[in-house]
Amino acid sequence: MTSPSTATSIPPVDTEKSALLTASQLNKTVQVGEQKLSIIKDVDIYVNAGEFVVIMGKSGSGKSTLLGLLAALDYPDSGTVSLADQTLSSLDEDSLAVIRQQDMGFVFQSFHLLPTLTVAENIAFPLDIARRPNPARVNELIDAVDLGHRRHSLPNQLSGGEQQRTAVARALVSHPKIVFADEPTGNLDEQNADQVMQLLLDLRQQVGSALVVVTHDPALAEMADRVITMHDGRIVPT
Ligand SMILES: Nc1ncnc2c1ncn2[C@@H]1O[C@H](COP(=O)(O)OP(=O)(O)OP(=O)(O)O)[C@@H](O)[C@H]1O
Ligand SMILES: [Mg+2]
Repeated sequence: MTSPSTATSIPPVDTEKSALLTASQLNKTVQVGEQKLSIIKDVDIYVNAGEFVVIMGKSGSGKSTLLGLLAALDYPDSGTVSLADQTLSSLDEDSLAVIRQQDMGFVFQSFHLLPTLTVAENIAFPLDIARRPNPARVNELIDAVDLGHRRHSLPNQLSGGEQQRTAVARALVSHPKIVFADEPTGNLDEQNADQVMQLLLDLRQQVGSALVVVTHDPALAEMADRVITMHDGRIVPT
């Protein structure tokens, strides 16, 4: 049964039009010996401002490759990625570097901290290279991830959980529009994984960043606004 009022009153919302990040018809191939392998196939994806999106799928399904393309760390063979109306695929490396510094945050499975910088210097790094140093903001983040007692330590003096908390603070320090995380808890035990993920979710909520997380953790998927599943280089239709 349909009533005329419900059938006509609410127009459909075009989420893709208002999206922060939009990728369309992404394709990526790699050369393996004589063969050209297609590893990302006709992927269309969008992420709204402030949205928490989880990407799942079997090992080898293309999740990390896709994240690298969305974050403009890697170029697609064809297709476009746009962030806040800027087409990333048409920009040169210098312009992309500025966008990565100002608008994006990153958290990787293996932490990727700069080994010669202390906790405080690693967290300050995105602000310092953008020539916008802000010691008060750095202190705020150090406290938020509970590393005040470790601020002068080098990464190799830290536990895995402490390293990833540093990486989470670094990812959010400059109020990025979007944060990309590739299995951010993959190298941590359950207790540290929960703590790191909760910090990432809390901080991104304070900042208002969108968050795209690749994970195998179903508990995390339950918390997401939207879950995207990949299979063999494609997004599985929902
Ligand atoms: N540079 C490369 N050269 C050859 N093959 C590659 C390259 N990069 C990725 N691949 C292949 O592309 C496919 C997708 O890789 P990708 O790392 O994106 O998978 P994934 O979904 O992140 O897997 P995992 O869950 O194990 O991290 C895999 O089959 C992988 O072997
Ligand atoms: Mg991966």
